[in-house]
Amino acid sequence: MEHRQDRKRKILLIYFSFSSQTNNLVQAIVNGLEESDIEIVLERLVPVKPLHFPIGTISGTLWLMLLTSCRYRLPIKPLSRRCFEDYDLIVLAGPTWSYNPSGPVLSLFDRDGERLFRGEHVLPLISCRGYWRMHWWGLRRLLKKCGAVVVNLIVFSHPNPEPWRTIGVFLKLAGKNPERRPWIAKMYHKYGHTREQLDEARRFGQMIGRELAQHGARNIKSLDFNTKLARP
Ligand SMILES: Cc1cc2nc3c(=O)[nH]c(=O)nc-3n(C[C@H](O)[C@H](O)[C@H](O)COP(=O)(O)O)c2cc1C
Repeated sequence: MEHRQDRKRKILLIYFSFSSQTNNLVQAIVNGLEESDIEIVLERLVPVKPLHFPIGTISGTLWLMLLTSCRYRLPIKPLSRRCFEDYDLIVLAGPTWSYNPSGPVLSLFDRDGERLFRGEHVLPLISCRGYWRMHWWGLRRLLKKCGAVVVNLIVFSHPNPEPWRTIGVFLKLAGKNPERRPWIAKMYHKYGHTREQLDEARRFGQMIGRELAQHGARNIKSLDFNTKLARP
């Protein structure tokens, strides 16, 4: 019988991303992981009904925020069979939606949570504008209910100061391009995560890869992801 230590360490990164921010972080982490000798499997959650970014209207944005504050489930397509293989570590990544995990991630828990996460070491990754704590508490509860071992947490917040961050995210979702509106552009240069944050995500990927290759997921809990760049 093959023992885990006899083969390459294996990591699954399973994620949802609406406006590409989680996607960019995951890709940067993968770049860092690739420096270690581990097998990497990527799975992006795809909603059954396509979601288009930006939403394009203020009313549509308010409607989605209302739905998501009720923990609205957004049905997703079936996962590829590879997701249900044996992994040394699973990274579960996605944005905060109204202080909760996003609709596709909630659907994932409803349908596949037990089968996917039971007995697995899981490292959650949250992309948000800055308000992630309730999301984290809820996510940790869901993972533990499925029998997962939650090994650490990575959070990346948008670095813009308030109130421009909240106004900017809302306008961006509504398709109003805040970066190009003179009354806000001076205070709000860019939606989402910066190049420096993506470099930091890549560094986190290097750290995870090294640790995983040498010791498995056992000591991922000792890695420090709570840095000024990630959570400004
Ligand atoms: C419907 C909706 C609700 C959101 N609610 C929150 C929130 O409660 N807290 C927060 O910090 N960010 C919130 N955001 C912002 C996203 O978490 C943030 O823009 C994230 O970086 C998007 O990642 P993505 O591009 O991978 O989807 C919300 C975004 C959407 C679309």
